[in-house]
This record gives sequence, structure tokens and C-alpha cells, in this order.
Amino acid sequence: MTHRLRKFLGTRSGQSLSRTGHTIPRHVAIIMDGNGRWARRRGLPRSAGHYAGMQALRRTIRAAADLGIGFLTLYAFSTENWHRPKEEVDFLLRLPSEFLKTDLPELKMRNVRICFLGSLDELPAHTREAAGAALAETAGNTGMVLSFAVNYGSRSEIVRAVREVVRESLAGRLVLEAISEKTISTYLFTAGIPDPDLLIRPGGEQRLSNFLLWQSAYAEFWFPRVCWPDFGREHLLEAIEVYNKRDRRYGGIKL
Ligand code: IPE
Ligand code: IPE
Ligand code: MG
Repeated sequence: MTHRLRKFLGTRSGQSLSRTGHTIPRHVAIIMDGNGRWARRRGLPRSAGHYAGMQALRRTIRAAADLGIGFLTLYAFSTENWHRPKEEVDFLLRLPSEFLKTDLPELKMRNVRICFLGSLDELPAHTREAAGAALAETAGNTGMVLSFAVNYGSRSEIVRAVREVVRESLAGRLVLEAISEKTISTYLFTAGIPDPDLLIRPGGEQRLSNFLLWQSAYAEFWFPRVCWPDFGREHLLEAIEVYNKRDRRYGGIKL
């Protein structure tokens, strides 16, 4: 970690990172991966890795809010994760309500707004209820937007958007020529959330696994080897350092 970043964290009060020379990405998205490997290396069941991942989640949310990140999006359960053994699926889908039970008061105090990306309808009632309560209780908050992707798959998200666009078009509310990239974006789960600037996947795998395919067109990627349960403030700071070294050209050239 650089001296400047350390200094910022030491003095946090009102000081913005950009004044120290670092650009804070507006939207950071994280694929929370490596829980199973973390547990296996310790001779523990996979559930212990998922549980430890919840502590990493808490650390990372706090660090992101302290840094002034505007949008933090976390991939918690993919549409493909239903293929895991039932006990693991049940355990994973218990975590959102467990996490919110303990952490919602702090998140509210921090003025965080909670969102969910994905089809909540297919989730167990306890998960849906916890999600609904968190959504409602933080709807008026104006601080960091914290989105949990649960039962989320980017391809099905795009299919869903296409269906909505066709429905609107057939009903005569949308003319063909008016359909733009923006139109598609407004029908995605992420409507109203800017595209991610930085996408982090701990655990060392270098793939998206059906996460934010449309939205990540110009995201910067970082794939640290650290498994998610060991992830924390230091890694988020390292990610920001890495991000600050990237040259985002969007297809153009610097003159
Ligand atoms: C991420 O960790 C948690 C979810 C996918 C829900 P994994 O369970 O995928 O851990 P690894 O990749 O097997 O180590
Ligand atoms: C992606 O991780 C999904 C989440 C972290 C929620 P996976 O572990 O399910 O992805 P693959 O199987 O390695 O592609
Ligand atoms: Mg994995």
C-alpha cells in the first residue's frame, strides 16, 4: 500500500482520495469466489468457507463505504449455482438473511441503499423476505448503493430485457428505430446503476461466469489469487491502485 493511501485511511475525515491523487472508481463489482478452496485448504467443509466469506463481505462493504465508492455490486449466487448439492444451495441461500439480520442496522446507519439483482421469485421465502425488508428499509438512503446479485445470470437478464422490449414494441409503445443501447440498459436488473468501472474476481479464476456481461463492456478487470474469505480492505486498496494504473481509452487514442 502506498504512503498516500495509508495516510488517507489514517485520517479519513472528510479527505477524498482524489485529492491524494487516486481516482476512486464509481462502481466496483466483485465476484465473491474461492470460498470452497479456502475451506478445503484448511480441511474444513465448504460451508465454513461460505461463512468466512460473510466476514469478508462485511469488511469489504465497510472499506468501500469509507473510500467513497458510489456503487458496490456483489455476485452472491448465480443461476448456475443451483447445480450444486442441495445442502450447499440451502446454506448459501440462508446467508443473505443471516447477513442482513446482523448488518442491516449498520448499513442503515451508513446511509447505504440496498438493491438486489436477479430473479428473487425463485428464492426461498426467508431469502425473499429479508431482501424485501432490506430494500424497503433502505430505499430512501442516499449513500453507497450496495447491490447483491442473487439468482443472477447475465444471459437470462438480457433475454428478459429483450422480451420486455418486444412486448413494449408490440404494444405500440416503443418504435423499432428508437431502440438503443440505452433502451436495453433500462430493462436490465441494473437499470439506474452505472456500468462497473472495476470488476474484481478473487480466487484466481479469470472468467465472468455469467456476471454483468452487457454492463462490463468497458470495465477494468482484476483477478487476485487471494480467496474471497481472506479478502479485505488491503485488497480493495490494492485494486484501486491497480485501477489507477490502467489507461481507459474506450477505443480512442490519446493525442
Ligand atoms: C464462491 O465460492 C461462492 C459461490 C459461488 C456462491 P465457491 O463456492 O465457488 O468456491 P470455489 O470456487 O469452489 O473455491
Ligand atoms: C461465480 O462463481 C458465482 C459466484 C461467485 C456467485 P462460481 O464458482 O459459481 O463460477 P465457476 O463455476 O467457477 O465459473
Ligand atoms: Mg467458485
